[in-house]
Amino acid sequence: MELIERSPAPGEQPLASIQVFAGLSIIIPTYKEVDNIPLILKRIDALRRDGNLSLEVIFMDDNSRDGSIEAVEQSGYDWARIVVRTENRGLSPAVIDGFRSACNPIYICMDCDLSHPPEVIPQMVLALSSGQQFILGSRYVPGGSTDDDWGIFRWLNSRVATLLARPLTSAKDPMSGFFAFRKADFDKADSLNPVGYKVALELIVKCGFRNIGEVPIRFLDRRHGESKLTLKQQVQYIQHLRRLYIHKFSNTMHLLQFFVVGGSGVIVNLAVLTVLLQLGLPEAVCLAGGIAISLVTNFLLNRRFTFSYARGSRIWTQFAGFVASSSVGMAVNYSVALYLRAEVLPETPYALQLAALLGIAGGMIFNFLGSRYVVFRKNYIRR
Ligand code: GDD
Ligand code: MN
Repeated sequence: MELIERSPAPGEQPLASIQVFAGLSIIIPTYKEVDNIPLILKRIDALRRDGNLSLEVIFMDDNSRDGSIEAVEQSGYDWARIVVRTENRGLSPAVIDGFRSACNPIYICMDCDLSHPPEVIPQMVLALSSGQQFILGSRYVPGGSTDDDWGIFRWLNSRVATLLARPLTSAKDPMSGFFAFRKADFDKADSLNPVGYKVALELIVKCGFRNIGEVPIRFLDRRHGESKLTLKQQVQYIQHLRRLYIHKFSNTMHLLQFFVVGGSGVIVNLAVLTVLLQLGLPEAVCLAGGIAISLVTNFLLNRRFTFSYARGSRIWTQFAGFVASSSVGMAVNYSVALYLRAEVLPETPYALQLAALLGIAGGMIFNFLGSRYVVFRKNYIRR
């Protein structure tokens, strides 16, 4: 760990233990935070002097054009700089870009609006030094809190969002925008691709952090400027969750989506079969018609959703592969259904539908394996 014990120099206050951190890079995403910039810099400066910290502060600004650049320059702190971004805007990309341009061994991310108290940073760094991999400034551990005037909706929103992330991490406050971890772990991270606001969650999942520490904070409401958290971010959060679930539980998620698509195929199959039956066609033809049409709808939906990573490849080749690989399943489906209809369910109401349903169940498992590992397999798919 990057902590260096330093004994006090002659004439210096003999503190029990003075620790010099080998270096922090504090990344602060900003959008129209001109009023908050001098305030947060002043508090970080106090911390820097008290703790003898070596640090850099990088504001990652999405071209606010509100005097933020001047505010950083006029502060006179040579350890603070601002990077103005004009492309790929957004909080998460700004933070990730910030980490990429930082060079100290410990990374911190925090909001500019003073919701996050810089004073707990030393505690976060100490927690890292005790072997933990990722430290959150947390509202939901004992000692943590949010401002009293958080309305019921904001509170509920935050809690539901946290609950949805529960299968991804057991951290109490993975939604926090205040966290610390090591540069070395960042450099090892899998393709980072966050959308929206939840950078910490992205890092926890993609870096595979297990040993997560949480330092309680009192989350204060901003006094200057306004929150940029909108409905758009909530929708993005759902998209982000889907990606992270797929990343973490890839086979289970593929199987689940395959079954949902399969479920829609069942409805298509039975509907087509019933219509054909009404038209007076022979039962064997009705069964075959239901299977054929649902095969096409299943193919299209699986290509679009379940195996969306393979969407770029040639559709006709894939369709041929899908039909071929499904043919085992279809044969199982067709023969099970015909057999049950003839031998087991001679005179039950909806006998043909019931037989078809059981046939479908029998065929499904063959189809999944063929799709996942042959037709929509991952290798050979161009990036
Ligand atoms: N560069 C950049 N680009 N910065 C942005 C953007 C953007 O598009 N949107 C917001 N920011 C900056 C803000 O200027 C602020 O410093 C920080 O990101 C957080 O934005 P707020 O608008 O204050 O967010 P919030 O208070 O609603 O949300 C905070 O709390 C959430 C948990 O309740 C953030 O910390 C979230 O990360 C956190 O999930
Ligand atoms: Mn805020």
